[in-house]
Amino acid sequence: MSAIHSLSPELTGISSPDPLKFAFAGKKSAHTSSGSIPVPADQTQAVYRKLMDTPALPETLSPGKRLAYIHIPFCRTHCSYCGFFQNTTKKDEVNRYVDYLEKEIRMSAHDAWTQSGLFHGVYFGGGTPTDLQPEHIVRLGNAIRESLPLANDVEMTFEGRFHGFDNDKVQACLEAGFNRFSLGAQSFNTTLRRRMSRIDSGEFLLERLDYFNSLNNAAVVIDLMFGLPGQTLGDWEKDLHTFLQSKAHGVDLYQLILLGSSRMKQSIENGSMPEPATSPERAEMFRLGVATLSDHKVGRLSVSHWGRDLRERNIYNHGVKSGAEIMPFGSGAGGNFAGHNAMSLRTLPAYYEAIDAGHKPIMMMSKATGNKALFSVMGSGFDRGWLEIAKLDQTGGAGMSEHCMPLFEAWQENGLTTIHDGILDLTLPGQFWNVTMHQALIDFLKQYPLDGQTTERAA
Ligand SMILES: C[S@@+](CC[C@H](N)C(=O)[O-])C[C@H]1O[C@@H](n2cnc3c(N)ncnc32)[C@H](O)[C@@H]1O
Ligand code: SF4
Repeated sequence: MSAIHSLSPELTGISSPDPLKFAFAGKKSAHTSSGSIPVPADQTQAVYRKLMDTPALPETLSPGKRLAYIHIPFCRTHCSYCGFFQNTTKKDEVNRYVDYLEKEIRMSAHDAWTQSGLFHGVYFGGGTPTDLQPEHIVRLGNAIRESLPLANDVEMTFEGRFHGFDNDKVQACLEAGFNRFSLGAQSFNTTLRRRMSRIDSGEFLLERLDYFNSLNNAAVVIDLMFGLPGQTLGDWEKDLHTFLQSKAHGVDLYQLILLGSSRMKQSIENGSMPEPATSPERAEMFRLGVATLSDHKVGRLSVSHWGRDLRERNIYNHGVKSGAEIMPFGSGAGGNFAGHNAMSLRTLPAYYEAIDAGHKPIMMMSKATGNKALFSVMGSGFDRGWLEIAKLDQTGGAGMSEHCMPLFEAWQENGLTTIHDGILDLTLPGQFWNVTMHQALIDFLKQYPLDGQTTERAA
């Protein structure tokens, strides 16, 4: 029997009467990773400069979207589950940071690469952009609009918390051109919220959603998390219904990834916090989420994101999953552009020093390996929940879909996909395990590259 016919269960999942709960052992990461070759540290500035002095190739721009990510590495408090925390919000430090960030944005304005294509999504994330002051928001928004060529229908997102997102900041966002707020509700249940070190009550969140909606001037989407310590299926159902009653235009459903270094994990281990939901329990919560939103005719924009109003488009998030080019700005920002991945310096003194030297503040850079067009088709498909099989051949070379078919058929046998009308369609279990399956396809192609195929099927 050829190796490709005895694929490991890490790739195929296992055969189970209940694949939603048991096809794989558990979700380990929120993201996939594929290969890249590091650029030596002493060459990053020269490589970056060369890339930026070269206009982007038309094929990298079309039909994909081009994105800018602006990172605000400050939070007022460190939420117990979160691995994104970098610095505590302090007024003077934030003032200084905004000066440098504005410089970094304006530095890129004259680059040939920047000016050679329109940006379709701008995302202020963190961290907590809502910890910025109104004048910071207006300044940075102006810097973006004056430095980057933005598409007329650009999606400009301002992410953050409800806490401290006061009316003057909201007005500043609208003045600065933001047309989408993405806010971390996580849960409306005040007890669960306090366990996550979230300050405000569920009632406060609803009042604020009413206010944002009354402005009628931007899409409002919220994040909800399931699988939290002590969260029952009933609690989760209430959160879903509260979203439906709220005026939010969209919702992201995230299952909790319990990070090894988090305070939440420590509290669970020392018994001061209840156990989080098991993977099968989280699977049940996902099923309930999908069913509830579908019953109420909320449109599905990806496996984990819904919009009930045409105002919500999900351009940035889907672009990221689809391998869109992302220019990063700010300390701790990550991006990918002109065939390279880059991560910016995470400590503020090092970030400031790089900007003072007139450099892009890059900490690490690598050249992406593999076939970008193929990875984009895969990423977009797994995020949407279905993949056009012929596109694998168009981007990966003739024979690619046939080469992958043993894996697709194994997934079908295990209840994770159906194959029909030239579509690889993720079932509900496949949607739940989409990140694991996407990673499995990447790993499969590493283990069995199309060029190196020696199997009966592929021969
Ligand atoms: C980068 S965070 C920033 C959000 C914003 N600062 C806030 O506090 O609401 C974006 C989203 O990631 C999700 N998230 C953060 N940590 C997570 C974890 N450990 N597991 C699953 N989702 C997580 C949360 O839903 C959060 O709203
Ligand atoms: S969830 Fe948001 S506010 Fe909380 S630590 Fe993470 S990034 Fe900061």
